[in-house]
Amino acid sequence: ENNSLIQRLEKAIVNVADFPKEGIQFKDITPVFLDPQLYRDVIKALADFSRGKVDAVCGIESRGYLFGIAVAMELNVPFILIRKQGKLPPPFVSEKYELEYGFAEIEMRQGQLQKGQRVLIHDDLLATGGTTQAAAKLVESQGAQVAQFSFLIALEFLQGQKRLEQFGAPIYNILNYQ
Ligand code: PRP
Ligand code: MG
Repeated sequence: ENNSLIQRLEKAIVNVADFPKEGIQFKDITPVFLDPQLYRDVIKALADFSRGKVDAVCGIESRGYLFGIAVAMELNVPFILIRKQGKLPPPFVSEKYELEYGFAEIEMRQGQLQKGQRVLIHDDLLATGGTTQAAAKLVESQGAQVAQFSFLIALEFLQGQKRLEQFGAPIYNILNYQ
């Protein structure tokens, strides 16, 4: 049954070669939203992984919102938006991280996560892990605990998991590409 979710999701996700740059195999998740039953089943799989184990969900802009907020609602816990730089009003905390070329920054409102809360960090995709690692630092800066990570897809050949090891939290992904 879980196997069939993997197969259905694999079939729905479209691989686009050389986007946004040459050599990159882009995973387009937008077809998932054309199939409400598949979307529901993805949310259920993600929620089942986290049920009873987290007190809050942090989702990363923007594709991390598409699933993260539904998971939080299903778990009946708060959802906190981690946004790209310049979108949130103060007070907020920021974390810089390295991209292939240059730097990026993500931000979270201060006071929305409570000290000691067990947090799920969710995003659609784990690639190099830079984005998720920065999100985990933001969570820890608030005195909350990174309890879990979840993704629809992990690009395991990019070894993003290694950058998350330092947080000692289990990682769940529905699909992985070697
Ligand atoms: C993509 C993806 C993850 C991140 C993964 O987001 O949705 O958030 O990159 O990459 P990393 O593991 O190498 O850090 P993107 O920044 O393209 O923006 P979007 O979600 O707003 O489309
Ligand atoms: Mg993203």
